[in-house]
Amino acid sequence: MSEAVRFSVSLSEELMGGFDKLLDQKGYENRSEGIRDLIRDFLVQEEIDKNREVVGVITLVYDHHVRELTNTLISKQHDTTAEVISAMHVHLDHHNCLEVVVARGKGKVLHAFADGLIGVRGVKHGKLVLTSTGAELPK
Ligand code: NI
Repeated sequence: MSEAVRFSVSLSEELMGGFDKLLDQKGYENRSEGIRDLIRDFLVQEEIDKNREVVGVITLVYDHHVRELTNTLISKQHDTTAEVISAMHVHLDHHNCLEVVVARGKGKVLHAFADGLIGVRGVKHGKLVLTSTGAELPK
């Protein structure tokens, strides 16, 4: 980490109290770590909003007995313009599988890719989480 900068912030006691309570519940050791996480989340969200390159984690729960479903999901992963970095498959029970796909690309591309997977018939539940280091914004 580069040299730390100190700054002071003015806010109401009510807001500070709520923040401190939440930090305590979440197990933060101090306010600085909480503020750092908030700022990073703000920067990552800005990268996503500006359609910069980020990382997407897509989870899919599906019934692998549905005809052609597995092949369709694989084909979509081969055909996307997003860069699929890794895919993990977990056999949850006799019927159900969990697939976790990690891909890199612009936010809009990843949204379209995830929507295409989640929308396949037989996919019971799907989620996309976009994340990044927050380091791609201009300094
Ligand atoms: Ni399976």
